[in-house]
Amino acid sequence: LSAKSYSTFALDTQLAELVELDSLAELIAFQPAVPPLVLGEGSNSIFLTDQNRTVLRYLAKSRTVLSENDQQVQLHIEAGDNWHQLVSWTVAQGWWGLENLSLIPGSVGAAPVQNIGAYGAELADCCDYVDFFHWQSREVQRLNKNDCGFTYRDSLFKSLLAGQGVIVAVGLTLKKQGQPKSGYKGLEHLNQHSSVADVAQAVIAVRQSKLPDPAVLPNCGSFFKNPVVSQSVFDAIQHSYPAMPFYPQADGQVKLAAGWLIEQTGLKGQRIGDVGCYEKQALVLVNFGQGTAAELQQMIALIQRKVLTQFAVQLEPEVRLLGQ
Ligand code: EPU
Repeated sequence: LSAKSYSTFALDTQLAELVELDSLAELIAFQPAVPPLVLGEGSNSIFLTDQNRTVLRYLAKSRTVLSENDQQVQLHIEAGDNWHQLVSWTVAQGWWGLENLSLIPGSVGAAPVQNIGAYGAELADCCDYVDFFHWQSREVQRLNKNDCGFTYRDSLFKSLLAGQGVIVAVGLTLKKQGQPKSGYKGLEHLNQHSSVADVAQAVIAVRQSKLPDPAVLPNCGSFFKNPVVSQSVFDAIQHSYPAMPFYPQADGQVKLAAGWLIEQTGLKGQRIGDVGCYEKQALVLVNFGQGTAAELQQMIALIQRKVLTQFAVQLEPEVRLLGQ
């Protein structure tokens, strides 16, 4: 079974076995000898080598309105739903909260893993809880938002709970009235009269102008995390590069733009075989068709080495890279 259809980077490695489960009852009945590798829609996972482990996709889809009043609505969404379809549905209802996260590829169940975020919003802003099925206890545990360890592109599901089970549902609270989050470049034309649909449309337009459609040019979105450095490291870099974009963090550290750092090294638009550093957004790596894991690993190493040499900053992958 080629991994090509199960990762939007579309490397042609092999999966030994794929199991797709449609309901919680099926998941509870499923008794693997070894915990499987849980996969959503493959928009942030790359299979660098052939996989012996069973790959599991949990496809249960339902949307339940738990409660609703004049101000807000509480939703329970099963993990197999497509993220953008969920966002589009909430926007069509006129509910505020997910609009800045329009068009992010992937499943609802994958959203909490890396606390997906874009254009000034992140999942944690609207998330109430995550329901997590544990292989060991074979029970669903409800983790309240504050117990999920949400930070920038990170959560407990990537650390303590990695490999321990499956996210089966997400609870969200959305608002009936809202104000556009329009601080981001490309969204400045939005104002207090803009509807939630206007915001979603604007976000979709910005994304389509910068980010390649994985269905056309295989990719996994941002390949590296934006590095967060100390004030003193930041001061030293800014001294040499006064035009560098930066984002001060609440804890006094400073987030840098990995795409900008990569562009400064001259690698934007470059390719190794069929793997390229995207010409319109250097943080995105793309597969022109026949890209291989070896070419991708060379590209990762080259980018990391050049950024480290020029800026003394270590870039870490944001994408989940799966070896043996
Ligand atoms: N920049 C460059 N050259 C480039 C790319 C970016 O100079 O080739 C500069 C931009 O001009 C801007 C800054 O770097 O000043 C930041 O770029 P951008 O606004 O495009 O966002 P990003 O930091 O590269 C992050 C997320 C994206 C998300 C956007 C918008 C991460 C790792 N990536 O990208 O998320 O859509 O912000 O909020 O945090 C993803 O995770 O897959 C993803 C696409």
